[in-house]
Amino acid sequence: MLTENNIDPTLDLEEEIKRLKKEMNAVILAHYYQDSDLQDIADFIGDSLDLSRRAAATDAEVIVFCGVKFMAEVAKILSPNRLVLLPDLNAGCSLEESCQPDKFKAFRAAHPDHIAITYINCSAEIKALSDIIVTSSNAKHIIDQLPKDQKIIFAPDKYLGNYINKQTGRDMLLWDGTCVVHEQFSEKTLIQLRNQHSSAKIIAHPECPEALLKYADHIGSTRSLLDYTTAHDGGDFIVLTEPGILHQMKKFAPKSQFYAVPGVEEGCTSCNNCPYMKLNTLEKLYLCMVNRSPSIEMDEELRAKAKLSLDKMLEMSPPAKADKAA
Ligand code: 13P
Ligand code: SF4
Repeated sequence: MLTENNIDPTLDLEEEIKRLKKEMNAVILAHYYQDSDLQDIADFIGDSLDLSRRAAATDAEVIVFCGVKFMAEVAKILSPNRLVLLPDLNAGCSLEESCQPDKFKAFRAAHPDHIAITYINCSAEIKALSDIIVTSSNAKHIIDQLPKDQKIIFAPDKYLGNYINKQTGRDMLLWDGTCVVHEQFSEKTLIQLRNQHSSAKIIAHPECPEALLKYADHIGSTRSLLDYTTAHDGGDFIVLTEPGILHQMKKFAPKSQFYAVPGVEEGCTSCNNCPYMKLNTLEKLYLCMVNRSPSIEMDEELRAKAKLSLDKMLEMSPPAKADKAA
């Protein structure tokens, strides 16, 4: 098997990946938090909802997922007959880790009159134990369709859950999970940046704690943040989400200035990077295509169960937005 140690150093990896893509009839999907070289080689870049829809609709034989494992699992659940490749199988998510199936089962059993609305950032096992999956771009739209007196468990992100509670006027019972990236932005540096750039708009992902969201002019999924900056080209932005997205923001709003908020660690220049997303590299993308591995494999019974809550999400979602160019 080809490994990082024996890749021919003279290879033009971009060209090789393009060649393999044609040869394998593959499509490359990428999340906005991936490194810019991975975004640039992708056929499609999106937020979790866009990527799920794209994975469900593709006619390619192979889906190469530049993102984290739960996203690649969604592709496998929705397109079981395709080979789904993930450059690094260790690309997890702190929210997924915070919500283990045995504890979640027990939590559900303790609240039998609640349905479980679960954020897509969770494992296939948790999806199989949930009633409806949501993303940050469709959560309000979906929850607003449920009867007002419906009792709801929301897992695993307590900050997103709290934000949706405020938006919908609900009192969902929240699982105690957090995103390691969004919970550690520095409020102190945010205020300093705001003082230095007083005309800049503050934009934030709803995985941030309320203490940070209260400063935001616009809150939304990665795609929503990108659409907002695109629509306000020429304005300046202080960005409270993973800085991988700045690559597309700069492309679609070339006249704007973007200021990424650093993490809380003194002197840490990259602790606002998602440690899981950043495991994927161009080399690993090339290797997973050559080796047709690592791939996402899933027990059929689990897949079929997990598909029910994902199908519900797709049925109840708002209409898809027009694609943004890759
Ligand atoms: P989006 O659905 O907004 O892309 O969020 C995915 C994610 O993992 C944010 O941390
Ligand atoms: Fe998970 Fe946070 Fe990374 Fe998104 S940014 S994949 S929520 S750890």
